[in-house]
Amino acid sequence: MSQTQALWWASESFWRKTAIWVTAGSFVVLIFLTFDTVKQITAGGKRVPAYATALNNRIDYVFDDKRNFQVPVIGPEEPLFGKKLTEAEAEALVSHGKLTTQAKNCMDCHTLLGNGAYFAPDLTKAWLDPAWGSKESREQSMVEFLMNPTDKLHNALGRRMPNLGITEEEAHATVAFLKWMSSIDTNGFPANFKPIDQADPEPAAEPVAETAAADPAADADPAQQ
Ligand code: HEC
Repeated sequence: MSQTQALWWASESFWRKTAIWVTAGSFVVLIFLTFDTVKQITAGGKRVPAYATALNNRIDYVFDDKRNFQVPVIGPEEPLFGKKLTEAEAEALVSHGKLTTQAKNCMDCHTLLGNGAYFAPDLTKAWLDPAWGSKESREQSMVEFLMNPTDKLHNALGRRMPNLGITEEEAHATVAFLKWMSSIDTNGFPANFKPIDQADPEPAAEPVAETAAADPAADADPAQQ
């Protein structure tokens, strides 16, 4: 047996061909993954609801036994601020809200969809935070909080959010952005988030924030997944 035959796998031409095929194959896989990702993150897809779908309906957050975490589910009609929007109006409102969060650098303190800081609560599911009180008052409480957060101890974190000079219009848009963001299927992120009990027909008369402040153990409910 000649030496060239014995060492075919060590030859330069073999590795050159292998490199070319691996590069070409990876390129095809990357193109496929790019299309797949764009599909997953586009509003109106399976994981990211269309803007109007999110704003015009209730967002439920229910435990999925198979996936073993909570997932957002579009509930019955419940328009934001009582006003049903077209897809174009909803998209404009959500992007105004998103631009507001960028202009005011909310990420300096908060996390949105995994990006940002951990000084303040994660905003990915903030819309579903029980601290906003009853579902009737939630939208208005959020607008008021965003416009004037300094004098309200909201989550009993012991930290206060500064007044960022947000106008009422910007606050409305930001609430729309937060509602839409909460409807995105984020594979259960952030973990251990305790949402509003949507099934509770009688919302607590007292704002939940006060209960939490008085009873620190309320935050660490072991019954919650
Ligand atoms: C300088 C840091 C800082 C910046 C910047 C900031 N926040 Fe906050 N935010 C906080 C802190 C601290 C809290 C918790 C306040 C409390 O619990 O009383 C908070 C709480 C909140 C909450 C309540 C969260 C929940 O789940 O109950 C929302 C909503 C919120 N901020 C939205 C925003 C938005 C929108 C922006 C940008 C426009 C923003 N914040 C910018 C510090 C900040």
